[in-house]
Amino acid sequence: MARYLITSAIPYINGIKHLGNLVGSQLPADLHARYLRGRGHEVLFLCATDEHGTPAELAAARAGKPVAEYCAEMHAVQARLSEGFRLSFDHFGRSSSPQNHRLTQHFALRLAEAGLIREVVERQMYSVADGRFLPDRYIEGTCPNCGFDGARGDQCDNCTKQLDPTDLINPRSAVSGSTDLELRETRHLYLRQSAMRARLAEWIDSKADWPVLTTSIARKWLNDGEGLQDRGITRDLDWGVPVQFAGAPWTGMEGKVFYVWFDAPIEYIACAQEWVAAGKGGDWERWWRTDRGAGDVTYVQFMGKDNVPFHTLSFPSTIIGSGEPWKLVDFIKSFNYLNYDGGQFSTSRGRGVFMDQALAILPADYWRWWLLSHAPENSDAEFTWENFQASVNKDLADVLGNLVSRVTKFCRAKFGEAVPAGGAWGGREAALAVDLGARVRAYEAQMDAIEVRKAAAELRAIWVAGNEYLQAAAPWSVVKSDPAVAAAQVRVALNLIRLYAVLSRPFLPDAAEAMMAALGCTDWAWPADVGAALAVLPAGHPFVTPEVLFRKITDEERADWQARFAGRR
Ligand code: 2FM
Ligand code: ZN
Repeated sequence: MARYLITSAIPYINGIKHLGNLVGSQLPADLHARYLRGRGHEVLFLCATDEHGTPAELAAARAGKPVAEYCAEMHAVQARLSEGFRLSFDHFGRSSSPQNHRLTQHFALRLAEAGLIREVVERQMYSVADGRFLPDRYIEGTCPNCGFDGARGDQCDNCTKQLDPTDLINPRSAVSGSTDLELRETRHLYLRQSAMRARLAEWIDSKADWPVLTTSIARKWLNDGEGLQDRGITRDLDWGVPVQFAGAPWTGMEGKVFYVWFDAPIEYIACAQEWVAAGKGGDWERWWRTDRGAGDVTYVQFMGKDNVPFHTLSFPSTIIGSGEPWKLVDFIKSFNYLNYDGGQFSTSRGRGVFMDQALAILPADYWRWWLLSHAPENSDAEFTWENFQASVNKDLADVLGNLVSRVTKFCRAKFGEAVPAGGAWGGREAALAVDLGARVRAYEAQMDAIEVRKAAAELRAIWVAGNEYLQAAAPWSVVKSDPAVAAAQVRVALNLIRLYAVLSRPFLPDAAEAMMAALGCTDWAWPADVGAALAVLPAGHPFVTPEVLFRKITDEERADWQARFAGRR
């Protein structure tokens, strides 16, 4: 038994996530966690909400709520949706936790002691009426390029031109609308990432087994332009981890907080502390400190490609730069984007399916199967309703669901609701065991490599092999002439259902539970020997014929959903 620490990129607090967000980190992380637990390993799977920064402040202001209250409410909403999708986090934390505040300040202090922080004076827009510096996106005005009046200080949404706040014509505060703005000097802390460049390059070069998507993005940032840039890690905001704290080596930093991307990954560690504080675990250090046993932990991170620079360069700079024995990530699995029906998901235009909407129309397993079997691994992927319908109807209803219902119903009709006795394995059963043995090993290999699509394809092939066996064995014909042979076939087929429940559980946790419940079985042991696994349920073992496992999606539903989620033009 080995130990695995798994983290998913922590979703921003502002708003409910769409299916593209889900498949980009949390869902594949859950697949991996469930698989490793199924293989008997010790797993700590952590996620949290990313609660600081401008987007959280803006969203709270739009909701007319104090930001702390808004975050608490949205955390509860996201936690409920995670449960709905059966994301099996050991803890779902909050980056605004006291643990993360303490740890973020601790890292800043250590980095300063290591000479890796410098102070930089910058000129930034100050709103006299609001009494605060304004981040670029809090400033609005007329775009000098296209004349659009709602351009933001960082970008014009109309013509997409990247802007500097000083470019805007008639700039005003997005907070109050005030035009009483002036450029003022403000001091910020910068993390000297450039001083870490050689160590980071050496570390990334040592990761020959990492996905190309991960290493190519990391190398681009390491080598582009003049190389890795120093990075401002503080902001003039109220909501966040205060920069001026007892024992801080700097002064005059009141009213500033750490940049959200500085504290967010530190939450991975703080979350383990929250997990302990919640009474769910006894020792977070054996997962995170190499001087306290974390040396034999394998740490895997999951994220979308836009998050890769922060996890390959910034966070490792923080960890390594601290000079303390923190656990570094061993494998970074990154994903491309999932698009929606010929375009992008859009929160503002209500385009695409969001997590709450998905669960309102179909159970989690339907989405889990489609998303994971179409994960955007090697390129961007696209959700279409046609493809979703075909995948659910074929893979889940026709192949897996149909096998379960056919076998249990046939057994009930001919032998009763218990595993039938009599007969013995013939060549067909022995061949099935050999074939499935090879397929299960191939499935494990893809799951071990976190090749999500390929693993889904192997699992589907395992389901298909069972169906083909049943089709060829045809117990419904054999029973007429040789009931004992038919009994042996049905015994194998009922055991196939158990095998499928065990193997499918990482993808389809609810269906797997339903299959095992119907079989009255609690033996989730992973099949080391497939031949033996096909004989776990003995003759006489009672079962109940389950409800339909997966229903088909009709053409009317498909058309209705397509129209409903198309978004406002
Ligand atoms: O892209 C995002 O959704 C970020 N909230 C991810 C942060 S991951 C980490 F660093 F904590
Ligand atoms: Zn413009």
